[in-house]
Formats: sequence, C-alpha cells, structure tokens
Amino acid sequence: MKPALTQFGTQMSQLTGVRAIMKDIIETLRAGSGQEFINLSAGNPVILPEVEQLWRDCTAELLASAEYGEVVCRYGSSQGYQPLIDAVRMDFNRRYGLNLTDRNILITPGSQSIYFYAANAFGGYTAPQQEIDKQAEVFNPKSKIQNLKSIVLPLSPDYTGYGGVSLIPEAVVACKPTLDIDEAAHRFKYRPDFSQLSIDQTTGCVIFSRPCNPTGNVLSDDEVKKIAAMASAFDVPVFIDSAYGPPFPALNFTEMTPIFGGNIIHCMSLSKAGLPGERIGIAIGDEQIIQVLESFQTNMCIHSPRYGQAIAARAINSGALADIGINVIRPYYQSKFDVVETTLEQAMPKDLPWFLHRGEGAIFAWLWLKDLPMTDWEFYQELKQVGVILVPGSSFFPGLREDWRHKQECLRISLTATNQEIETAMKRLAQMVEKVYQGK
Ligand SMILES: Cc1ncc(COP(=O)(O)O)c(C=O)c1O
Repeated sequence: MKPALTQFGTQMSQLTGVRAIMKDIIETLRAGSGQEFINLSAGNPVILPEVEQLWRDCTAELLASAEYGEVVCRYGSSQGYQPLIDAVRMDFNRRYGLNLTDRNILITPGSQSIYFYAANAFGGYTAPQQEIDKQAEVFNPKSKIQNLKSIVLPLSPDYTGYGGVSLIPEAVVACKPTLDIDEAAHRFKYRPDFSQLSIDQTTGCVIFSRPCNPTGNVLSDDEVKKIAAMASAFDVPVFIDSAYGPPFPALNFTEMTPIFGGNIIHCMSLSKAGLPGERIGIAIGDEQIIQVLESFQTNMCIHSPRYGQAIAARAINSGALADIGINVIRPYYQSKFDVVETTLEQAMPKDLPWFLHRGEGAIFAWLWLKDLPMTDWEFYQELKQVGVILVPGSSFFPGLREDWRHKQECLRISLTATNQEIETAMKRLAQMVEKVYQGK
C-alpha cells in the first residue's frame, strides 16, 4: 500500500542527517561477516556500572513504595510528574540562586521533543499579517503576506537532529562560524561570527547545543549573553540545548555557567545521565513559553512517561545524580578524549593540516582534515576498508546551505569505545590520512 503523503508526511518520513548515515553503518556492520569493525559512530552512552546501579536503586525504592501504582497506573498532568518538577525547582533554585516556580518547568519525553515543539511553535509560516492585525485590532493595509519565521542555529556545525525538527525545512538556517586555528598545535575552535549572525523580526527562535554535539565546543558565557541579547530585542526565545551540560550529566570539561532568565530556555536531557531509554527532557524558562510548549505536548502525546520521572526525582533529590555526573560520567569521557588526543598527536603526520577541535565537553571528538583530497563521505568509505567506522562530518551542518569546502573535511569520533579500540582506530586513521594526502 502506498498512500499519498502530505508535505508534512513527506518531510517527516525522511531520515535526516546522521540518521541516514547510521543506516549505512548498520548495513555495513551486518554485511561485514568475518570483518571486525571498530565502531566509533555511536551516540549511545556507555552503560557505566555506577550509573546503572543508581537507576536500579531508585527503581527498587519506587517499587517498594506506595507511590508505584500512582506512577504507572494513572495519567498525569502534561507539565510533568509533580515530584520531579519539585525536585528540579528546588535543586536549581538552591544551586543557581534562582526563583523558579512550577510554572517555569516542563518535562518532556526526551529533549528532542522540546526542539520539535519549539521549532514548530515559533518557526515556520505565521498567519498572514492581516489576520494578526485583526486579532490585535490594528489596521495594517500594507501586509497580506505570510511570514516565514526562521529557526536560527547561530554556530554551525551543530546537532544533526535540528535538521529534522521543523515541519518547514526551509525555516532552519545556520550561521557559518569563524575558526580560531592554532597551526602549530594542530588544534582549532569554532566561534560564532557575529558579523554574519542575523537575528531580527523574521526570526522565530534560536537553538544551539552547549556543550556541542558534534564538536565538543562550549560557547563562552559572553557569547551566549550576546546571542540572547540580540534575540531579546525582537522577543525571540533562545533554546540552549544542555544535553551535555551541568548539573547533570555535567559533561563539560571546561568551566561553564548555565545561563538562565529572560528569553533563555534552558533545556536538559537525562539521556547522557544514563536514562536514554526512559526519554526525559526538561525545559526551564519563561512561564509563557513553557505554556506554549506544554500545549503542544498535550496535543501530541498527553505527557511524558511517569516511571522515568519518578526515579529521576529520587536521584535529583538525594543529590546522587549531580554527584555521579561529576565523579563518574565526566571523568570517564574526558579520559577517552585524552586517548584520542594523545594517540593522534603521536600518530598523525606533523606536516599535514589536521586539526582537532578543542575538547570542551560532550561525548565526541571532532577532527578537521583541511584540504582533504576527497570528500568526507569518500574518506569514511576508505576507513571502512581498514575496519574503522567514524561519522562523516557533512551531516552536522543542518541549515547551512552555502557551499563551503570545510563541510566535507570533518569527521566525528565517538568517545564510547574502549581505550584500546580508540587507540587502534586513531592509528589506522593516521595511516589513512598519510595515504590519501600522498595520493594528492
Ligand atoms: C545535542 C543533543 N541534543 C539533544 C539530543 C536528544 O536527546 P534526548 O535523548 O533527550 O531526546 C541529543 C542526543 O544525542 C544531543 O546530542
């Protein structure tokens, strides 16, 4: 059966960005009987024993409590399970000196859904201006046109998932960065290019990840404040995707302060704190924005599952979740980044223009092979021949439409493999780099 699809149906039934590549990777792994692959493509977090134990303990407590039936046998409010909302409110007010009330908090089924709600509530086509004027009882004879409100990604590359969140793909627009390059050290860092970044009355919302998947970049406090101020001038909400940020999972390897207030919506995920299967996202921000997102959620799925929320409330209230982030999750991935860094330093040819992005957080390393004599996709195919799977970088530039050679020169390296696997893979990568640049 092949029913006709609507525009939205066509858009939403396509795999975007890295999900399309994952299909190729899964097929490669399946077909490669006999060949051993080191798979550094995974975005799935490692199951760390201490983290698994924390969730096991919280589950045991929940099972033994009278609360269990209330949690799993009943519907609840769209905003979230009250004990989790309370836990987040108290923890954030104490930790960051805020004055949050319940109304500033929304729990969603994973944080990806926050970006879906936001992208479609604030980005896309607005009603014709005349309609809006009519509602406001203002007469404006000039404007009949529909306005396209954009979803601005101020620092490209960024999370590939933003490529698929809007029902109106042309609404997603990304801004090309500037590059801070340390030639001698073979390191680099992306910075927002404020001379190019445009946020105005045509902007619906702004989204960026901090720390960033795929690059590990952490925007500085000043850069965040500057973006928020530009957006605030036009009443535009800024969604800061803190899937890797503090206080949980605290996957920042550099100092960073979460920033709250005004037009900023601080968005968190418990996926990298060991609960990706339970789908828990948390949005914290202005009451009116939270209400819009909540209604979107009611229409779409009523509410987030409550079992995960109940165990999360326990782990936040006891302080165990924040502790485990700092003492277990962060050091684990930071040490993996060190293995990537030291192995590349030893194995990569010194005279070639390779640059590793500064590792400031998240669970990936990002490598730029300047003037690579083939595309990132072709290089990915070459690496498969020597049993290494990395993710070609070009899928991490959603919304950046202009031609830019750099988009085909990068690779994402997952930090979820063992030290030995990472070391071997980086050595094979270095040999392949030598070979393909020589061929040039
Ligand atoms: C930057 C970023 N944002 C959001 C998500 C989605 O997370 P969740 O599992 O909370 O939907 C991911 C998942 O990998 C991510 O890397």
